[in-house]
Amino acid sequence: MLLAASAIALLPAMQARAQSGELVLYCSVGEEWCRVMSEAFSRETGINVLMTRASSGETYAKIKAEEGQPRGDVWWGGTGDPHLQAAQEGLTEEYRSPVLAELQDWAVRQAETSGFRTVGIYAGALGFGYNSELVDDPAPACWADLLDPRFADDVQVANPNSSGTSYTMLATMVQLMGEDEAFDYLTQLHNNISQYTQSGSAPIRAAATGETAIGIVFQHDAVAQTVQGAPIVTVAPCEGTGYEVGSMSIIAGGPNPDNARIWYDWALSPAAQELGASAASYQVPSNVNAATPPEAPRLEDVRLIDYDFATYGSSETRTRLLARWDAEIGSLPQ
Ligand code: F6P
Repeated sequence: MLLAASAIALLPAMQARAQSGELVLYCSVGEEWCRVMSEAFSRETGINVLMTRASSGETYAKIKAEEGQPRGDVWWGGTGDPHLQAAQEGLTEEYRSPVLAELQDWAVRQAETSGFRTVGIYAGALGFGYNSELVDDPAPACWADLLDPRFADDVQVANPNSSGTSYTMLATMVQLMGEDEAFDYLTQLHNNISQYTQSGSAPIRAAATGETAIGIVFQHDAVAQTVQGAPIVTVAPCEGTGYEVGSMSIIAGGPNPDNARIWYDWALSPAAQELGASAASYQVPSNVNAATPPEAPRLEDVRLIDYDFATYGSSETRTRLLARWDAEIGSLPQ
């Protein structure tokens, strides 16, 4: 009798869930972390997650292409610049989560810069990693060292159109050197590049298997390969380097706005952010109460530039720099 009564009491909640039981997630971190997050959220809320993984620039382009008939609810992960561009273009929704109060300054700044249309979920510094079985002394320690002819055809980096990692590198070089000097550097570096990959972390996976000697990636992606047993050494370049504020946005006009907010608040919680380490993802979480994985490269130990997210995440600058990269670097013979 009692059991029957409690089952009846649950009914309205279950019906409500059945009516709005889905979340369409666009995920721009590694496949494994996307899967771990989706499964944990479904387990905890009963909401079924339909997840698609793609790199940051690709996901931005998909959301842009779906403008007017949005199919996704939440864009979770990926570098902050294209999230900021999406915010500026009105592709994402303003939302002030109650969890904002628990976040690191850099995560809140990201929200403020976008008019609260995106928020920081993790941070990580750019750098490179090399396979110590393929690289002789002196080991590369600086961006300048990557131009050495001994690394001809032995360096990989992603294409900045598809990859947020590679766009972070482009924007970092422009901020470190000046724009013309940065394109000059990238032109010289092209002599050593064997492949511009689609995904940002692919170059270090290639270095781990010995397909290439050096991969230009976020330092946490290089560390992940070392933790998994590959002979990869992570480098924080001596000239200084840029960093990402990995971000999350609610897609404007998505099919399941209530579930989008449930995901958003959950994904900012310490418990959800701590899931990253279980998926070999060693970024610094944005919630001050979430434990930073001991493997995560410490941002305090890296010579970070004062990356100008407002400028390099703006539509004007990102579009212009990518067009210049296509014209001057992407068009060079391989
Ligand atoms: O999950 C690894 C990661 O490097 C994130 O830190 C980053 O936001 C994302 O991948 C960038 O991926 P991509 O360069 O493919 O857009």
